[in-house]
Amino acid sequence: MKQAIIIGATSGLGEAVARQLIGEGWRVGIAGRREHRLEALQREYGRDRVAYRVMDVMLPSATEALDALLEEVSAPDVLLYATGIGRQNPDLEEQMEIRTVQTNCEGMVRIVDHFINYVKRTPRYDTKHRAHIAVITSVAGTMGIGQAPAYSATKSMQSAYLVALSQLIRMRRLPITVGDIRPGFVATEILNPEKHYPMLMTAQSAARHIVRSLKRRQRITIFDWRYRLLVGFWRLIPRWLWERLTMVKN
Ligand SMILES: NC(=O)c1ccc[n+]([C@@H]2O[C@H](COP(=O)([O-])OP(=O)(O)OC[C@H]3O[C@@H](n4cnc5c(N)ncnc54)[C@H](OP(=O)(O)O)[C@@H]3O)[C@@H](O)[C@H]2O)c1
Repeated sequence: MKQAIIIGATSGLGEAVARQLIGEGWRVGIAGRREHRLEALQREYGRDRVAYRVMDVMLPSATEALDALLEEVSAPDVLLYATGIGRQNPDLEEQMEIRTVQTNCEGMVRIVDHFINYVKRTPRYDTKHRAHIAVITSVAGTMGIGQAPAYSATKSMQSAYLVALSQLIRMRRLPITVGDIRPGFVATEILNPEKHYPMLMTAQSAARHIVRSLKRRQRITIFDWRYRLLVGFWRLIPRWLWERLTMVKN
């Protein structure tokens, strides 16, 4: 039976991916802060399919919760970091910016590095059984976005960190692959329910793209084709012009 650990599985993309993997016969270890949601998923599918630990990635104790989860779901095939916060913050509410950095950057580094060190000391990983580490970043990491400075910048940092890790993993010949999953707008709790978002996808449809990416161990996944086109176009915009595109609100 294939196994995955999903950090940030109490709602949205993490939960949708967990459900899809369980539906395909996987065993999952899930984490997040809202225990009632973790417990509900375990109750729905049973303890043999779902293990959980309450975890706040902003706290150093998150690694203890991860270790406890790895006791139950040992040597998983996949570790997915689906945790993330962020919203438009043009007034630069400082605590919001700082919490976004802590959750998306500090939290990711804490969990991903701890897991890599776990893989290093776990003999069950070898060239035949490699771990795949994936992080849900965002197309928002392509450029700094004035309406959401911390969100877009933390997503960019996540992507750059994953590139660095994949090079380090090769240098050290570790049995690990790394994936950077960059969705566009998906209807989850992270979005403002009062706003309209273009090219919005459902969490279920996004989860199908994510699960495919995990199984194929894709390095970079941008979905769907409309976002691939958009990101390609964004990258061509010079900095002086980007600064002037003040109609970019989302
Ligand atoms: N939805 C989109 O349009 C979209 C687009 C691009 C990228 N993404 C990215 O996709 C990822 C998942 O977001 P989502 O859309 O699925 O939103 P979501 O429904 O709000 O899910 C966020 C998840 O992160 C967890 N989380 C937040 N802070 C945490 C903390 N301190 N410790 C542990 N877990 C924490 C939440 O669990 P608890 O609150 O229970 O802790 C929840 O499970 C995020 O990184 C987001 O940036 C989303």
